[in-house]
Amino acid sequence: MSTLNFPVMTLRQPPEFTGNVNRQKPITLHPRRRHLTLPLASNSPQPAEQKPIIELQFIGPKAGGDGKYPVDEVTEVSGEKVLRKIMEDNKLELYATYGKLMNCGGGGSCGTCIVEVIEGKDLLSERTNAELKYLKKKPESWRLACQTIVGNKENSGKVVIQRLPQWKK
Ligand code: FES
Repeated sequence: MSTLNFPVMTLRQPPEFTGNVNRQKPITLHPRRRHLTLPLASNSPQPAEQKPIIELQFIGPKAGGDGKYPVDEVTEVSGEKVLRKIMEDNKLELYATYGKLMNCGGGGSCGTCIVEVIEGKDLLSERTNAELKYLKKKPESWRLACQTIVGNKENSGKVVIQRLPQWKK
């Protein structure tokens, strides 16, 4: 931090304003002391905050011409997004036909945003009441993407997701 001090200044009134040139008195101005704090640039870079990362793989619902299922890879900071948002941000189709038209927008009230967790279920949030309701008779590995938070801000690792698992069963 640095401080700037301003000097005391003395000004004289201009004659045309006094009406009497001989009685002109100097006016002394005492500017308030002002302490300016100026940030000084640092040459040393700030260390980047290291946040835990979750690596996700999304397996496509349909095999390509070569018989292989397409896999999309995404990296996200742990505990910041739900699966639905991650898929939306990466333009990965989440819904089947009915869900495309009738999904609730992530409110947990339609049950159409189904995914299957192939690997890494311990890196995801617990099932919510909406999932207990809509996935009651579904496989344990199925989740609702709008209810599933990826990571908990402290963990890291790999999660593998099957898109549209209902097409495979
Ligand atoms: S989008 Fe409706 S329950 Fe997930």
